[in-house]
Amino acid sequence: MCGHVGFESLPEQLVDRSIQQGFCFNILCVGETGIGKSTLINTLFNTNFEELESSHFCPCVRLRAQTYQLQESNVHLKLTIVNTVGFGDQINKEESYQPIINYIDDQFEAYLQEELKIKRALFNYHDSRIHVCLYFIAPTGHSLRTLDLLTMKSLDSKVNIIPLIAKADTISKSELQKFKMKLMSELVLNGVHIYQFPTDDDTTAKINGAMNGHLPFAVVGSMDEIQVGNKMVKARQYPWGIVQVENENHCDFVKLREMLICTNMEDLREQTHMRHYELYRRCKLEGMGFSDVGPENKPLSLQETYEAKRHEFYGERQRKEEEMKQMFVQRVKEKEAILKEAERELQAKFEHLKRIHQEERMKLEEKRRILEEESISFSKKKTTCDLFQSQSFMASSSSIKKDKDRKKESGYQLALLCFEVRAVEISDGHKDAEEGREGHSSRGWLE
Ligand code: GTP
Ligand code: MG
Repeated sequence: MCGHVGFESLPEQLVDRSIQQGFCFNILCVGETGIGKSTLINTLFNTNFEELESSHFCPCVRLRAQTYQLQESNVHLKLTIVNTVGFGDQINKEESYQPIINYIDDQFEAYLQEELKIKRALFNYHDSRIHVCLYFIAPTGHSLRTLDLLTMKSLDSKVNIIPLIAKADTISKSELQKFKMKLMSELVLNGVHIYQFPTDDDTTAKINGAMNGHLPFAVVGSMDEIQVGNKMVKARQYPWGIVQVENENHCDFVKLREMLICTNMEDLREQTHMRHYELYRRCKLEGMGFSDVGPENKPLSLQETYEAKRHEFYGERQRKEEEMKQMFVQRVKEKEAILKEAERELQAKFEHLKRIHQEERMKLEEKRRILEEESISFSKKKTTCDLFQSQSFMASSSSIKKDKDRKKESGYQLALLCFEVRAVEISDGHKDAEEGREGHSSRGWLE
């Protein structure tokens, strides 16, 4: 190039733009209740964030996020601190770390949804993705607890983990070294990937490389200012002496602040976006059926994938519709067969009843016929009887004077006739009795 063009000012342009926009940094503090999370954050940012104390009796782990606007010189930092409330206080350990995973995923999901919007507003979108997880390990001097291992293992692909030995002033110097080594070997043994300070940038490679060897950092937190010599320092005072927070011989607080805020904050943000979010996004989109390559490893555009998915969806829907139709027809056929069978049974029952009814009717007809015949014969006999009676009365009145023998003879004849009638009546009486009727009527007039 011959002469000045001007693009050498690009970095300054970027710096100016970034300063105008401001920065955003999100820290997740994971550690048991009262392990010193709030104190350390306060000490790191030299601010009293006024965090409420948590109780040990939370039924489940809750994540409490608070956002603060900080300013140093002309740089604005939107700092979000997410605390795990009640972590490790549950009997079921799975309940302790699952809410943390869900929280991290929810922030990725919110960002993905914003990215997928037609009208995106990523420029002024409040990015709540977690950039770093400060994992507080209890200073037991022994080894990692199962809960720590489980939690770190399930978080390591989602967030940059920086392990810290909390309240490091409660552990002796020699014990601390052994403890650090033990923790690191346990993490390696269990395949837990913690954040490594990057060594690919020449300017920071040396310091970052050295600091990686100091992990996990042993930290002490305190906002108390105590006079040491002729200056005031942040320290914790004990009956036997003072632990200075910013003294590298006492703890790794300065190393942590240097690495977390001064040297690698931007790398942490970048790793979150390029590694962890990318992984979430890939898994999510693949889970939805999207892929960069089609069959035979042919590159596939989003449009093609969408079309293929739509086609697959319609095919599936049609298949389901067809299946449902078939099932419906089958059900109708089954119901029809059941109804036909019921109808057949009803018809047979009806025929049977009809036959019984006809037989009954015929029997009754026969009885009626017999009764009518009997009634006719009875009427005839009654008429004959009436006739004889009237004749006998007439004969008795006209021939009163006739002799007693003739009277006797006609009397005999009448008696004989009465005897016959009586015989007929008795036989009728028997018949009536058989048919449940009374035979009084004919007997009455005869008597
Ligand atoms: P919760 O939010 O209630 O879960 O507690 P926390 O983890 O935020 O702990 P916090 O910072 O409130 O500290 C709890 C207690 O531990 C306080 O009494 C602190 O003074 C003390 N503490 C904090 N940091 C240290 C430390 O580095 N060393 C020692 N010895 N004590 C500390
Ligand atoms: Mg707290």
